[in-house]
Amino acid sequence: MRILITGAQGQLGHALQQALSGEDLILKDLPEFDLTQSHSESKIVAARPSVILHVGAYTNVDGAEREPDRALAVNVHGTTFVARAAATLNARLIYVSTDYVFDGTQTTPYCEEDVPHPLNMYGQSKRAGEIAALTGCPNTLVVRTAWLYGHAGNNFVKTIMRLAGEKPFLEVVGDQRGCPTNADDLALALKNLLVSDLRGICHVTNTGDCTWHEFAEAIVSLMELSTPVRPITTAQAGRLARRPAYSVLAQGRLGTMGPLLPDWKEALARFMKYAPHRASTLN
Ligand SMILES: NC(=O)c1ccc[n+]([C@@H]2O[C@H](COP(=O)([O-])OP(=O)(O)OC[C@H]3O[C@@H](n4cnc5c(N)ncnc54)[C@H](OP(=O)(O)O)[C@@H]3O)[C@@H](O)[C@H]2O)c1
Repeated sequence: MRILITGAQGQLGHALQQALSGEDLILKDLPEFDLTQSHSESKIVAARPSVILHVGAYTNVDGAEREPDRALAVNVHGTTFVARAAATLNARLIYVSTDYVFDGTQTTPYCEEDVPHPLNMYGQSKRAGEIAALTGCPNTLVVRTAWLYGHAGNNFVKTIMRLAGEKPFLEVVGDQRGCPTNADDLALALKNLLVSDLRGICHVTNTGDCTWHEFAEAIVSLMELSTPVRPITTAQAGRLARRPAYSVLAQGRLGTMGPLLPDWKEALARFMKYAPHRASTLN
């Protein structure tokens, strides 16, 4: 199978390279491949993949408020180019999207059928990207995931691991609830989904949910450190972009395909055990 991955150097892109190491992979990323340029479409067509894993994106949630045009160019126009190429090739397109398409007013997990209402520019651009993918290519699966961390790049887990060893205490938002997801586990799920005939939208995260504060406490505990982690409110954190208070994703569709991904705490422990950057307190 010839599989093209956009955003191949990002955290999920790296995990996909591992999960799909036996396949014929075409890796695309900046600077040679720029999703905002219309020739990204012809570059994909020239590579003739049968599957496109479109994970390349503008992912800086606060940054998208400062440079909305850039977020839209990458996440919407870029996805339009990718979807057109996929349609030309009769290829299968998997577009990775986000829990931030929801506004967080629900108190029970969001299903694939629930109506998106993004609160911030990143979520708006990813939702428009979903529509571009679904309308641009008939064989599209949109996979929404959440709170992703992997071995490449920066993420919440690595930040807390570093700060827990440096600071006398940590303050972390305690009034936003979601589903932490290990990029390795998501990559394995995508490996199965790309050969399935599932189309439309499918939610995929590690199972279980927590607040960012609970997530940070679990990280510090796995490091066997006693650094206190204090909960603060979203208002106290003062971030530029609004974020949903509740963005837990229900996984009804994935459940019909087979087992769900492991529990988030088990996935986190596995990640931290093998993280090369782990603190010296870990064994
Ligand atoms: N991270 C999360 O918590 C999270 C949660 C839910 C969904 N997602 C979605 O999951 C997917 C993977 O996320 P991730 O965390 O792996 O993201 P990531 O680490 O930021 O990787 C994204 C990749 O896309 C590349 N990229 C950015 N602009 C580009 C452009 N104009 N042309 C080509 N490539 C470009 C980035 O390159 P540079 O690094 O050079 O910019 C990077 O290599 C994304 O679609 C994201 O929206 C992420």
